[in-house]
Formats: sequence, structure tokens, C-alpha cells
Amino acid sequence: MKVIERIADMRAALAPHDSAAFVPTMGNLHAGHLSLVRIAAERGRPVIASIFVNRLQFGPNDDFARYPRTFERDVELLESAGCDYVFAPTESELYPEPQVCFVHPRAALADTLEGQFRPGFFIGVCTVVLKLFNAVRPRVAVFGKKDYQQLLVVRDMVAQLALPVDILAGETVREAGGLALSSRNAYLDERERAESPRLSAVLSGVEQAIRGGSTDWARLEAAAAAELVAHGWQVDYVAVRRRADLGEPRAGTALVVLGAARLGRTRLIDNREIVDPAR
Ligand code: PAF
Repeated sequence: MKVIERIADMRAALAPHDSAAFVPTMGNLHAGHLSLVRIAAERGRPVIASIFVNRLQFGPNDDFARYPRTFERDVELLESAGCDYVFAPTESELYPEPQVCFVHPRAALADTLEGQFRPGFFIGVCTVVLKLFNAVRPRVAVFGKKDYQQLLVVRDMVAQLALPVDILAGETVREAGGLALSSRNAYLDERERAESPRLSAVLSGVEQAIRGGSTDWARLEAAAAAELVAHGWQVDYVAVRRRADLGEPRAGTALVVLGAARLGRTRLIDNREIVDPAR
């Protein structure tokens, strides 16, 4: 496996290939990322993972400075998962000038939920993903369903800009208690770690209620948020939305319940897809 920092070297290495499979990451890798690498390896060769902590997608009060950077360990993990190249550009390589061109994703998808609580987040994500795609020029790219909204926003950007890349989705990988794997789990102290599976449990509760026939979305969302608050969480949202476009839910459509909440200083997100009981 080769580690490459420069865009020109990445392009030269991939020039003979037209079926590269790509997994973009911000490092601090866990089993969830490695499952995406394995999906990529089933769909194309060579497999490239990027490691780049993208300042553009962090707000002024976000955790850019303390975001965990574990480069050597990440490289070992990627090699053991079957990756062929790691693209790890420096900030000045990827953003050589102040970045003045940005990708503005569809507002209806990107300004709600995460976009509402982290203004500009998806502008930062789309801008870096497009730049990474331009450097790697993959045939397929794999994104995790844990960042469900990001997956939809990236798919929409690819369709809007007619980018020649297929976006594949990897299932969320969870700890035994249900906690979705996330780089940010590393911030949790012992007490918070014990409490953290509640987010997925509460979302599963909403999923089961809807599978059981409940359509009172507002009551389900409010009850789920109240349970989190009662256990010390600060809730940004619990929201039932249409799976295809995050629009307001309607019975008879495929739905997803998404949640974001803070435990102490750590903000966690999760979601559960809901198979409509009528289907
Ligand atoms: O999901 C992430 O880790 C990031 O948002 C991504 C896609 C690597 C862009 O920086």
C-alpha cells in the first residue's frame, strides 16, 4: 500500500486504471470505515482511501482542533483492510489558495437537520468531496449510512453535476449495545460511554412504533427527545423523515428516523431506516 500526498502523484498512480474505488475519510478509523473499504474492494480496483480533516466542514465552535488524528494507526488499519493507496493531502495541497469556489448543495436536503444545527457544514463536505473526486477520479465511492444526510447530499451533488462516479452506501456498524461507531465516540468519558447507547435505543423505539402502525410523528419525536433529555442529553433533533429526500413523512413512504444530541461536549448522530408496515 502506498501513501500519497500530492494530487499530481495520485493522478499519475491511477492513470492506468478506470475502475478505482474510493472511501473518503477524516481518519481516526474504526471498523465502520474498514467495512466501507471492504465494500469498495468488492466493486473496483485499486482501492483508495483518503485521510483529510476538512477544516471547511467545521464551524467556529466545532471540534476541528481536537478532532483525533491517528495517522500511523489509520495507515496500518487501511493496509490490513486491503486498501491499495492512501491519499493524505496536506491542507495547502488541497486548498492551495484561499478556497473561493464552493459547492452549494440543494437547500431542501442540506439546510435541514445537520445543516440547521451546523450551518455551512454540507457546503464544506460537498466542496471537499468534489475536490477529492477530482484528485482520485474514482468509478465508485462508498459512504456510510451513519451519516445518512451526507449520503443523500453527496448523491444529489453527483446527480446535479453529472459526476462519473457511483455512490454506494455502507451499513452502520454498531457496538454490541447499539452505539453507532464514530470517531467522536473517543471523546466520551466512562459515564458518557455507558449512557451513549441510549440514542440508538430511542431511535429504535421510534422505528418500532412506526412499524407497529403509529403515524403521530410529532408525538413520537417529542417523546424520544424527552427521554434523551431526561437522561442528561441536549437534543438538537429527533426527526422522522422520508428516506428518499428527507421531506416531511407520509404514511406509505419509506421513512428514516434521525437524531443528533450532545452528551457533555460530545455530539453524536444516528439514524434508523424504517420499513413501512404497509409494504
Ligand atoms: O464523513 C466524513 O468523514 C467526511 O464528511 C468526509 C466525507 C470524509 C468529507 O470530509
